[in-house]
Amino acid sequence: MNRTLVLIKPQAVDRGLTGKIVSRYEEKGLKIIALKMCVANDELLAKHYEEHVEKSFYSELLKAMQQGPVIAMVLGGSDAVTAARVLNGATDPVKAAPGTIRGDFGLEMENNVVHASDSIQSAMREIKLWFPDVQ
Ligand code: CMP
Repeated sequence: MNRTLVLIKPQAVDRGLTGKIVSRYEEKGLKIIALKMCVANDELLAKHYEEHVEKSFYSELLKAMQQGPVIAMVLGGSDAVTAARVLNGATDPVKAAPGTIRGDFGLEMENNVVHASDSIQSAMREIKLWFPDVQ
């Protein structure tokens, strides 16, 4: 059993996809341990995406993530980190397989629908950032 952080990105929230996307994780068997809707501030996003700070797309990424509210969730279950990444599909939605969340709902890298932690270590770090009160 482990936990992961999942974000439903602002454009997907704006498109009214929250319910469908949350269902994918729940139908897989992942449990919602915490969930909130919030507009992410600069400080939180800078910490969350610190590994991308030097990348050419960093400022566009931060802009896209602040277009509106995100849904942030802590999901738990058997190998939750891997399960959420596989459900999400490839980072580039054009290349993501049909049946995955990005494959079914996305078309552009900057608006790739969802984020999920890429390792157990990242998950622990990201959960602390987004949900400091969750034990
Ligand atoms: P995410 O899983 O949130 O992690 C980092 C994000 O950066 C990624 O999803 C994409 O939204 C974005 N990203 C990664 N690579 C690129 C790229 N080459 N061009 C634009 N955005 C990117």
